[in-house]
Amino acid sequence: MLNILPNLTTTLAGKALQSCLMNASGVFCTEKDELLQLVNASSGAVVTKSCTLEYRAGNPSPRYADIPFGSINSMGLPNNGIQYYLNFIDEVEKQSDKLVILSIAGLSHQENIELLKIANQSNALQLIELNLSCPNIAGKPQTGYDFVASRDLLQKAFEVCQKPIGVKLPPYFDMVHFDEMASVLNDFPIAYICCVNSIGNGLVIDKNTDATIIKPKNGFGGVGGLYIKPTALANVNKFYELLPHVDIVGCGGVQNGQDAYEHILCGASMIQIGTTLWQQGISCFARIENELLQILQQKGYTSIKEFKGKLGRI
Ligand SMILES: Cc1cc2nc3c(=O)[nH]c(=O)nc-3n(C[C@H](O)[C@H](O)[C@H](O)COP(=O)(O)O)c2cc1C
Repeated sequence: MLNILPNLTTTLAGKALQSCLMNASGVFCTEKDELLQLVNASSGAVVTKSCTLEYRAGNPSPRYADIPFGSINSMGLPNNGIQYYLNFIDEVEKQSDKLVILSIAGLSHQENIELLKIANQSNALQLIELNLSCPNIAGKPQTGYDFVASRDLLQKAFEVCQKPIGVKLPPYFDMVHFDEMASVLNDFPIAYICCVNSIGNGLVIDKNTDATIIKPKNGFGGVGGLYIKPTALANVNKFYELLPHVDIVGCGGVQNGQDAYEHILCGASMIQIGTTLWQQGISCFARIENELLQILQQKGYTSIKEFKGKLGRI
């Protein structure tokens, strides 16, 4: 019998990619030398740090901490400004066919619109990830938790930008909220959705000092890593059901091949890795890729599309 070797090829927003693994925005993708290493890594695509119009230094340190089953951070969007990332994407386009996605996170709707107008002018840029899991207006929840504001922003976004736009979503926890967000997203030609951003506003205490483990926001920060895998899988799976024609990028708690396999079972076409990349460095892609390939081989699959979304129910 012919033994066909499995592969991890996938498509995202109509683009064929060699691997379904990539970095998550914000981890190892702020500086050019990090981004270059990601371009040369065995991952299928690269996403930049979420950018603003101008350079931001971000919050005071310590602003990230490893914790037993993941991470907590309140980075405050440190980034080099949109032009830095567009210049990088221009350079990469000349020497590599790796897809580099620009992540955008304006601190207001107006800033997001300005960012999208600028991104729209770039020749090399192929795909945008609009981070809806970002502060919006003081006294209001982040955009992704405000369905009216999300609709309003997407309406304007698609008016000013003709490039394909994917959205990065915060985690949802209530069935009504899944439905509400899906009905907003359904009204726009969304290129993909990425589920999920960190679970917001966790608090971790240092047992030696009885104080918070990070400094900004009185110690409150976004939680990533294994803590959030069940929430991430639920979000991927629910949106896969509610938005069957939209590609889903699964993000949250991926430490090994089995975690990636589970995201695909839930409906993900692509998987982003955040905390594990921060903790283990760029070699995690090759390891997770091998582990995932082994699982495919054991189960007799040759490609991810053979089991994507095929989660069993009992
Ligand atoms: C240090 C750090 C910075 C992050 N910055 C961003 C960001 O700029 N934009 C964004 O969309 N998500 C950001 N995230 C969230 C991650 O992209 C990811 O959604 C989250 O960490 C969950 O994935 P994980 O469990 O693999 O860490 C950041 C996460 C970390 C740990």
